[in-house]
Amino acid sequence: MNKKIYFYYIVIAVLYPIVKLICYINGLVYLRGVIYGLIAGVLTITIGILAFKEYGGADKPVWHWLAALIPLIIIPLTPIVMILHLGLRMFLMEKMTPFMIFEGIAVAQFIVAILMFRGLIFKRGTDKQKMPRVGFAIMKTVLTLRSIFKKPERILREMGLQKGQTVLDYGCGIGSFSIPAAKMVGDDGVVYALDIHPLAIKAVEKEIKKKGISNIKTILYSRGTGLPDESVDVVLLYDVFQMLSDKEKLLEELHRVLKSGGVLFATAEHLDPKEFMNIFARGNLFTLIEHRGEVFRFKRD
Ligand SMILES: C[S@@+](CC[C@H](N)C(=O)[O-])C[C@H]1O[C@@H](n2cnc3c(N)ncnc32)[C@H](O)[C@@H]1O
Repeated sequence: MNKKIYFYYIVIAVLYPIVKLICYINGLVYLRGVIYGLIAGVLTITIGILAFKEYGGADKPVWHWLAALIPLIIIPLTPIVMILHLGLRMFLMEKMTPFMIFEGIAVAQFIVAILMFRGLIFKRGTDKQKMPRVGFAIMKTVLTLRSIFKKPERILREMGLQKGQTVLDYGCGIGSFSIPAAKMVGDDGVVYALDIHPLAIKAVEKEIKKKGISNIKTILYSRGTGLPDESVDVVLLYDVFQMLSDKEKLLEELHRVLKSGGVLFATAEHLDPKEFMNIFARGNLFTLIEHRGEVFRFKRD
């Protein structure tokens, strides 16, 4: 994550109580609002500074988390407190200008916090830094909701999975793809559901048990897939490439496990598509054969 984001965060956090104080001095807001603003300001500034100082200190992520979480929790409360305190009529009619100024600032900080939070959760799920439990819980909810709109079954059908194939779902998460893929490859096929996060493996295993699925094998990642050479027909890298710390190394590993002529499906979520393509081009291991919607289909060279 860009270090600048912490800087903006602190600047906004400083502005917030100052503007509240100015509004109070000019008789535009009540004292309770100022006290609330000061508490929120001091908390967010302190934690923001600590997070800024420790930026890159992966072993001490707690300040990063708090820096993002505090405004995410406190700031939505601001308009609620304001409305309750001033009354809806006053909020709408008389106090609109000051409200708009400092709530505007609060909203800006809220947006920065979301960016930080997003970065903290989704960029920390790498082989170097495991996603925290709370991050995983949020991701689980996001993936569950995503399945309602983006049907994994439809995506897999478009990929053309065949009966009897061996599929490696790399970074399987909660198994949104592994489970329908297992159905598509049938009893003669097998799906390896691999993830670096023990909670992901646990979630898939729970689902396997619940649904009585026998052709999914879970793999908790550690230094490689552990699969034999040329043993896989299809690799899925859906919504995971952005999280990998050593992308080239993984591509080498996937090249090793894929059968000659095997296919790799990947998405470039949160990545610049040009950079994404460059990474694939660098190793001369895969050739792009199709780009449909968000899915890139590569052939193993
Ligand atoms: C956003 S989720 C996507 C899950 C699944 N592919 C899907 O689309 O439903 C990314 C998953 O990749 C896993 N992951 C991140 N880095 C990984 C790595 N280096 N090796 C294996 N899995 C990884 C995370 O733990 C997480 O479960």
